[in-house]
Amino acid sequence: MAKDLYEIGEQPPLGEVPSNMHAWLVREERFGQPTTAFQKEVVPVPSIADDECLVYVMAAGINYNNVWAALGIPVNVIKARNKQGEKENFHIGGSDASGIVYAVGKDVTNVKVGDEVVAHCGQWNRNCPWVTAGNDPMYSPSFRIWGYETNYGSFAQFAKVQAQQLMPKPKHMTWEESASYVLVGATAWRMLHGWPEHKLNAGDVALIWGGAGGLGSMAIQIAKASGAIPVAVVSGEDKIDYCMKLGAKGCINRKNFDHWGMLPHWKDTVGYNNWLKGVRSFGAALWDILGTKASPKVVFEHPGESTMPTSMFVCDTGGMVVICAGTTGYNATVDLRYLWMRQKRVQGSHFANCVQANDMNELAVEGLLDPCMSRCFTYDDLPVAHQLMHDNKHPHGNMAVLIGAPSFGTGKSADAPVKLAKATLPKSDVHDTPHPYPLSMPLPSVAGEIEAEIKVFDDGSKVRDQMHKGIIFCSKTDALEDAARVMIDNDVHAVVVVDNNLAVGVVSQTDIVMARQGRTPEETRALPVGQFMTDGCATCHADAPLSAAITDMLRRRIHRLVVVDADSKPIGVLSMTDIIRKVLA
Ligand SMILES: NC(=O)c1ccc[n+]([C@@H]2O[C@H](COP(=O)([O-])OP(=O)(O)OC[C@H]3O[C@@H](n4cnc5c(N)ncnc54)[C@H](OP(=O)(O)O)[C@@H]3O)[C@@H](O)[C@H]2O)c1
Repeated sequence: MAKDLYEIGEQPPLGEVPSNMHAWLVREERFGQPTTAFQKEVVPVPSIADDECLVYVMAAGINYNNVWAALGIPVNVIKARNKQGEKENFHIGGSDASGIVYAVGKDVTNVKVGDEVVAHCGQWNRNCPWVTAGNDPMYSPSFRIWGYETNYGSFAQFAKVQAQQLMPKPKHMTWEESASYVLVGATAWRMLHGWPEHKLNAGDVALIWGGAGGLGSMAIQIAKASGAIPVAVVSGEDKIDYCMKLGAKGCINRKNFDHWGMLPHWKDTVGYNNWLKGVRSFGAALWDILGTKASPKVVFEHPGESTMPTSMFVCDTGGMVVICAGTTGYNATVDLRYLWMRQKRVQGSHFANCVQANDMNELAVEGLLDPCMSRCFTYDDLPVAHQLMHDNKHPHGNMAVLIGAPSFGTGKSADAPVKLAKATLPKSDVHDTPHPYPLSMPLPSVAGEIEAEIKVFDDGSKVRDQMHKGIIFCSKTDALEDAARVMIDNDVHAVVVVDNNLAVGVVSQTDIVMARQGRTPEETRALPVGQFMTDGCATCHADAPLSAAITDMLRRRIHRLVVVDADSKPIGVLSMTDIIRKVLA
């Protein structure tokens, strides 16, 4: 007869499932710093459906997602699940696990009680029509990241998983090593092998951002295993040896370049040329490593905003930039000329399906994938591990925590089939990059409901109440010098360009400064307004609500709108300064 509850580290007899279990729980009332949010509790062991299993967890992987779950932002994962009909008022996180199967549902055929397994974190409803039709479950509306978007992850003695999540544990790895690589490994596998036409083949060059990071270290090894040529990007010379041991042909130190971030405006000839210089020398560094002028067929992206322009530029004609995150920001800029003229592809990628996770795991089982585990914690230190991540004081590489395993270093039952060069991160290594946002988040869809109306504190003001009456204008054929004088004399930042009584554009101080790039002041002064004005005029009607005009300016990232009357005749200007005046008033 099974006991009602076993202590941590006291393994129940195989197949005997107690009614209760120890677990680290997050509850709404203590959302906040991980060291407070995670608390030890005893809860009932969950029941399982016909396609599910209970796994006695030996070790769990640690990912940033559960820092967000603890904070309760940007998503309250408990409330989100309650809304979908799940009743538990707590969250048991953990999206990576190694352990032993203790119970299986009646439809389960791929594993049996006693199997030593690792779990991937992709869940979906097997009855979803999209899935039953044989499509990629990663596109199913029912897809969830287990242990973040679902409950009963690996931070407990027993985890509730779908049988399809379970894969053989590599026999040569410890419990903690085998709990550390699947989430990042499977994500990297789909990125490099999941997109037909751009599947990485022998001899292809792959550029891998963050080569010493969780995803990057997996990507280097996966690329290498398929005979491709991985080149890694890192932020310090001390990480180069690590990436080389994992299989990189060479590394580029991104600290040697400074052309990061949004693209300069394509009309800013000087800015664009400087950017071009930066990105070309980055490309030359890549060629130096390769010893030939080859370009990457696949660029493995996740930093996002800061690196996307470079990724797009250096990617081969007909190649693919595949991206699974935007760690430095979501508003990446793309020079569309390269996208269409060189027929490149930008491909979003998210985790992996069951087939891809298993293909990746096969590499691990064959001994060809180092889990790159940097640190393992005891069960009691689970909140500390998350706090270190929260404070950005954790090491690079993949981290794990013991759950049921009695001590560090247990669980190996065979020698490694292949002897890999042991890659270790520099001792001094600490994380110095921005926090990643959750790898999964609800996004508004066309059919979705609006969650909560953002209040507009609207006092009913109309544009005409706040606008500057009358317009200062010039014509297309005027010289930029004349437009500039009008601006200086009237202390305004832009002049409306009028043609046949209609506002046809705006010439702003920015336009004039842009025209000056690469020209002498004399040349700049003589240019016609028509050549450098911003074509088309963002207008609003004098009787439009002020709040709507503000939204329009913010959306277009512009500082003023030309105000027109009912006949579309320009009669004034509404600027950000006018709005600020109102705020002060
Ligand atoms: N969608 C998915 O399924 C999925 C799955 C896993 C992870 N992710 C996301 O992918 C991202 C990376 O995950 P990870 O586990 O690899 O994180 P990680 O271990 O923190 O590694 C990220 C690497 O990115 C590099 N980096 C940081 N800032 C950079 C910048 N400004 N420019 C260039 N490189 C920069 C850093 O390397 P250097 O400083 O050495 O350059 C760092 O090692 C995270 O945002 C994570 O949430 C998404």
